[in-house]
Amino acid sequence: MSTFTMDTSTSRATPAPVPGKRVTAPLIRARKVDGKTAQPIVMLTAYTMRMAQLLDPHCDMLLVGDSLGQVIYGLPSTIPVTMEMMCAHGAAVVRGSWHALVAVDMPFGSYEASPGQAFESASRIMKETGCAAVKLEGGEAMAPAIEFLSQRGIPVIGHVGLTPQAVNVLGGYAARGREEREAEKIVADARAVDAAGAFCMVVEGVMEEIATLIAAQVSAPVIGIGASADCDGQVLVIDDMLGMFERTPRFVKRYDDLATRIGDAARSYAEEVRARRFPSADQTYRPKS
Ligand code: KIV
Repeated sequence: MSTFTMDTSTSRATPAPVPGKRVTAPLIRARKVDGKTAQPIVMLTAYTMRMAQLLDPHCDMLLVGDSLGQVIYGLPSTIPVTMEMMCAHGAAVVRGSWHALVAVDMPFGSYEASPGQAFESASRIMKETGCAAVKLEGGEAMAPAIEFLSQRGIPVIGHVGLTPQAVNVLGGYAARGREEREAEKIVADARAVDAAGAFCMVVEGVMEEIATLIAAQVSAPVIGIGASADCDGQVLVIDDMLGMFERTPRFVKRYDDLATRIGDAARSYAEEVRARRFPSADQTYRPKS
């Protein structure tokens, strides 16, 4: 069943404010010319319709990341995230945006077995959400899947370096590439993803010099997170940059302290309810005089 239809009489979602033309995968790819990206690419994660509406005018791409497992569902990692979760949130973000390219993460277990499995999963995500691209984790081992999808109408974003779906192999979320052998492997992964046809790639949680080297060596735009200012663009998890969690990873800059502000608002509401100050005359229905 298509998830596109929206009943505007019952939903708070508003139709696209401007019938704009969305950013496309070829437009993102074309931002890097002769190894340089004049204007860095702006990407944030979004998981809900309303957040997509708020972020859309400011972003080139919105990523429905499988980080929603932890951020929205309180799961311990991205491993248990399902196709159903990704499709439901992907469709909501597409409904809430009109300008940015929306990319949806392929969840763990939905693409690694074979290029055919990757196509089945990616095509389902695209049909059910209306997104314009998918993202999958992995380097050399995933190159055949990236090539298979890219040649069959599915724009792919690669993801190398710290790949959270591999947390059980990596042993944690520490930055990667401190040792030469691992650094070389990450660069080889990025090259393989590039050669396979990814239109851009995320490089996450690596030593700064590795990210700088990758950005200089691959032809596709490199979107950094915990990487380097030399990348062709940057992405952050929206809840991290808004200060929704007490713990802030080193690579995150908090642009707000929403956790405190939401707590303050809830405290004021609770005080007013208990004191019978809410609702007041302004918030109650009375016969018209
Ligand atoms: O799942 C996610 O949010 C991501 C970003 C951190 C790049 O993959």
